[in-house]
Amino acid sequence: MQNFDYYNPTHIVFGQERLNELNNLIPQNAKVLVLYGGGSVKRYGTLEKVISNLGDREVVEFGGIEPNPQFDTLMKAVELVRAENIDFLLAVGGGSVMDGTKFVALAAKADSDHSSLLYHGFNPVPVSSAIPLGCIATLPATGSEMNNFGVVTFNEQKYPFTSPLIFPKFSFLDPDFTFTLPKEQIANGVADAFVHVIEQYLTYPANAKVQDRFSEGVLKTLIEDGPVTFNDNNNVEARKNFMWSATSALNGIIGAGVPHDWSSHMIGHELTATFDIAHGRTLAIILPSLLRERKEPKRTKLLQFAERVWDINEGSDDEKIDRAIDNTESFFNSLDIVTKLSHYGIDETGIETVVANMEKMGLTHLSETGDLTLDIVRKILLAAK
Ligand code: NZQ
Ligand code: ZN
Repeated sequence: MQNFDYYNPTHIVFGQERLNELNNLIPQNAKVLVLYGGGSVKRYGTLEKVISNLGDREVVEFGGIEPNPQFDTLMKAVELVRAENIDFLLAVGGGSVMDGTKFVALAAKADSDHSSLLYHGFNPVPVSSAIPLGCIATLPATGSEMNNFGVVTFNEQKYPFTSPLIFPKFSFLDPDFTFTLPKEQIANGVADAFVHVIEQYLTYPANAKVQDRFSEGVLKTLIEDGPVTFNDNNNVEARKNFMWSATSALNGIIGAGVPHDWSSHMIGHELTATFDIAHGRTLAIILPSLLRERKEPKRTKLLQFAERVWDINEGSDDEKIDRAIDNTESFFNSLDIVTKLSHYGIDETGIETVVANMEKMGLTHLSETGDLTLDIVRKILLAAK
């Protein structure tokens, strides 16, 4: 196992009917900005419930954060924070609202060119303070509710950013807020959480037994309860397990002390930026093709994945690995996710655009060892055609 630091200060408030505890978690004298997306939380009454639990505090609202949140929209929220002297941010929504709120938290305290906050990738943004924030999560998918990452779209490119200052102070995970999700968003969330685990688990062996078995447990739970949640809009127990799986997939615990490969995400972000395909779907397109292409460097862990996650115990090693990858693709397909680029109207020209954009973004040496070049990216995309 590699050396690691693990730090996660987010207080998780998990379960139904707990919103009355919100009042105790925000400073009594705070002026609160509630941020939300395109209106789902207004339409389904979640926003009203949240605001009614904020007591006598002064509350200001900012709506309209779009999926794959846009820098320009978020800068309007930054102006509002400054004009209103806001001292607490409350995100009510999915990954886009939570990520957008994290950006606002940092940008509101930074004086200079705010877009430059996006140019630090996975190194911490160099700012010394941020506005504290909390989340009411309405979409199990990204893990943003319990991590210190965000992704913002600027000039038609997606930029990840991170800072220890943007861990939410708390996040409410109430399955009741997710029953209004359209099926396609449940599918996106299952795929996203699944691939988050894979990017931290399916690399090369590091003899990290706890992390491996925790990852396998999350993957098995997603395979079991993802489809139940997708098909049955009444099963609250499955939904709770799905919700906690998505949070556990990217709250740092399974990624401590192990190599990471964020290639599917980096290629997927380009597909979203260029062709506006939902994040989870881009990952489901890329991952099976990437695993087939990267069979050799990932062989040992692929075999472990086949045996321990898919319970494939018969056949040669190659057969086991091939079946595990096929099962993974079929799993995505069973959630009505099409895993072929042609379905989204992307041909060879589109693939070249993606490769060229990745070059522009400096994404030329991906993978757990940095050996995944743009030629390999092209092969992966062509195989997913
Ligand atoms: O905007 P509204 O009207 O609220 O509708 C949203 C949106 O259209 C809707 N929705 C959310 N909760 C709902 C609901 N509709 C009905 N009922 C509810 N309870 O769902 C749509 C998609 O929402 P969005 O927040 O965009 O989805 P998701 O949670 O998948 O977030 C995707 C974003 O997260 C980033 C992605 O790049 C993308 O920008 N990611 C963030 C990560 C992180 N912070 O660690 C990691 C991920 O890998 C990912 O990159
Ligand atoms: Zn993701």
